Amino acid sequence: MPFRDRYTGLINRYRDHLPVSDDTRIISLGEGNTPLIRLKNIPKLLGKDVEIYVKYEGLNPTGSFKDRGMTMAVTKAVEEGSNAIICASTGNTSAAAAAYAARAGITAFVLIPEGKIAMGKLAQAMMYGAVTIQIRGNFDEGMELVKQVALQAPVTIVNSVNPYRLQGQKTAAFEIVEELGRAPDYHCLPVGNAGNITAHWIGYCEYSAQKGTKVTESCAFCDGNCRYAGGPIIGGNRPAMIGYQAAGSAPFVRGEAVKNPETVATAIRIGNPQSWDRAWKVKEESGGWFDELADEEILAAQKLLAQREGIFCEPASAASIGGAMRDIKTGRIPEGSTIVCTLTGNGLKDPDTAIKQCGDSRMVTIDANISSVKDAILGNM
Ligand code: F0G
Repeated sequence: MPFRDRYTGLINRYRDHLPVSDDTRIISLGEGNTPLIRLKNIPKLLGKDVEIYVKYEGLNPTGSFKDRGMTMAVTKAVEEGSNAIICASTGNTSAAAAAYAARAGITAFVLIPEGKIAMGKLAQAMMYGAVTIQIRGNFDEGMELVKQVALQAPVTIVNSVNPYRLQGQKTAAFEIVEELGRAPDYHCLPVGNAGNITAHWIGYCEYSAQKGTKVTESCAFCDGNCRYAGGPIIGGNRPAMIGYQAAGSAPFVRGEAVKNPETVATAIRIGNPQSWDRAWKVKEESGGWFDELADEEILAAQKLLAQREGIFCEPASAASIGGAMRDIKTGRIPEGSTIVCTLTGNGLKDPDTAIKQCGDSRMVTIDANISSVKDAILGNM
């Protein structure tokens, strides 16, 4: 492949739409450009005439969508002269922060809830060389501490309260529109802090505006005075955004913060979302909704996706497909729709949860001889 065609990450790909200049030193690991996979078997199982695609963000360099935001956040932190970044995390942000800090040659401090992050994510933070600070508390407490310490120490916050994070993450919407030739009718995401659903909406709005169609009377991000505001909504250009939460950590469904969030989907074990107001605006403007799934429903969706489609995502990610399946079944998402579900993180992040829920798997242990192997095969045909 000639050099000019080599993919070198989303900042280079979308630099006209991102806050970088020709002089900016880009910190990239080749993130973005993830596959949009059309599901074949699950729609048949549902018996509904729908097109379902999954955007497999687990194939980013550190295995989650966080890399899209982190390439921007770390690029800008370095450009602004920062030598250290900090975040609170349920695991994926810390993995991405650690990797991009290593790439940039700066220090990453990560605060994680002790005992509540998946093993793969912990391994990543440690391996990439982040200063890993476990707190006896949850993500929400960690987030408050990070905000306080950033006022007192020379560290740049790289949680999604950092606006550059959302700028990077909006590119997922660009990729989807480019690949489908239009926006989907529905876009389903798991919601924790609600940064990603907000970022996608920014991306869809910008893309739609760029195509020469005015977007909305009041843009969610500027109180109505940016160049995207002021026009009618043109059908088909932007999806309804649907945010799914775990039932034990569902502040958007409750309408208020949740004090002690709990869920097997540790990535979205968040009770006090940082993008609270923005996410409500996204829901209103896009005509979408929030809903919740029980842990069992999340795990069942994770397994179904793996066993029927060959796609392994982490539990939190499966909330998107589990929720979409339910809404397709009930007709809330009507037949004839095109639906994109974001699979935010790779299944390999959380091997413990995967193995635990496959106790009924077809694994057998046998002696190393040919007759035992034959028996194992014939017994499982
Ligand atoms: N899915 C996964 C796999 C995540 O790691 C996260 C967030 C989300 C969904 C929710 O995204 O917060 O933008 O609504 N993980 C953060 C972290 C909190 O620290 O890794 P959101």
